Amino acid sequence: MNRVRIAGLGHYLPEKTLTNLDLERMVDTSDQWIRARTGIQERHIAAPHETSSSLGLHAARMALADARIDGADIDLVIGATTTPDGMFPSVGSLIQDGIGAKRAGAFDVNAACVGFMSALATAMQFIATGACARVLVVGTEVLSRIVNWEDRGTCVLFGDGAGAVVLEAAQFGGPLGLVLRSDGSKKLALFAEGPCGPRDANGEGPAHHLCMINMEGPAIFKFAVQAMTQAVRDALTQASLRVEDIDLLVPHQANLRIIQGTAKHLGVPESKAIVTVHKYGNTSSASIPVALSEAQKEGRLAEGARLALCSFGGGLAWGSMLLEYSRTGVVPTQRNEALVEANAAGS
Ligand code: UT7
Repeated sequence: MNRVRIAGLGHYLPEKTLTNLDLERMVDTSDQWIRARTGIQERHIAAPHETSSSLGLHAARMALADARIDGADIDLVIGATTTPDGMFPSVGSLIQDGIGAKRAGAFDVNAACVGFMSALATAMQFIATGACARVLVVGTEVLSRIVNWEDRGTCVLFGDGAGAVVLEAAQFGGPLGLVLRSDGSKKLALFAEGPCGPRDANGEGPAHHLCMINMEGPAIFKFAVQAMTQAVRDALTQASLRVEDIDLLVPHQANLRIIQGTAKHLGVPESKAIVTVHKYGNTSSASIPVALSEAQKEGRLAEGARLALCSFGGGLAWGSMLLEYSRTGVVPTQRNEALVEANAAGS
């Protein structure tokens, strides 16, 4: 079976920012409440002409440039999004066209905020089996289009953005453990209806507010910490690794208190957790690839570092992937623990 290296990473945030002070003028909230309860200070909002595919295309081009390859070298494009440009074609197909990946297949994965990790796991299977040599995975969202801007319980949380990863068959790197879980019976805790939902006796679809993000915030908060903690523990058990073997925790960026709670329950020092939620809010499928791309640019991804990705979201869905990060794809002769730890601590 092939192993998988991360050949390139890229991320893109739309230019416009929406601060907590801006939100104070829109709903009954305060900068102080939002910072204290979520850690969020600002988020980015797509311009009217922008879509998930256009944000994703920016990130994809950056990841290709980082990998020093062309779109034509890609075998498969997988989009991860809950806010596609349309019902079809897939965002994957639109990005495939945009990068000129003329011989690539393309499709989307939707697992709400677990979408990117699910797409990454799918891509890695294609590479492990030898079906593909290079796969582009893009997590991209324009959540601002499905946020209820009159609901202070949700509108302060979300933002738009995109992150992309180029994966390549290699001798070293890739998943060590994978846990993906779902409990569809809890679907009403976090949902947004779409255009194809059930009709009432008059042939009418769901009310407008049901087609925006609806969430039981406190219930999701409790679930998130418990589910991510257990998922990481299960992935560690699969890989016969201990919590101390985690070099970097890469959690879904929904709420700083959820990240801190998960790190605490796991027994991972907070300094090992990547945090971007203060700048970008919750960008769903984009949050983990954006965090990975930023971490790489900041020199926090050392060759051979063991990353614990974890996420939760609508479904309900949750999971964790333990990932041996390799840029070179070459089996190391000696694992440089000191360097990995120094980089993970951001020093
Ligand atoms: O990708 C997954 C997406 N979902 C999540 O990650 C959400 C997880 N949940 C959360 O992050 C938190 O539950 C929230 C940030 C949504 C809410 O924080 P909380 O500490 O759980 O607050 P709460 O919902 O229990 O509300 C406490 C109070 C309430 O007022 P009363 O009833 O105590 O008078 C709310 O009405 O805070 C009020 N409140 C607000 N006040 C100012 C709720 N939203 C706001 C707001 N500004 N934006």
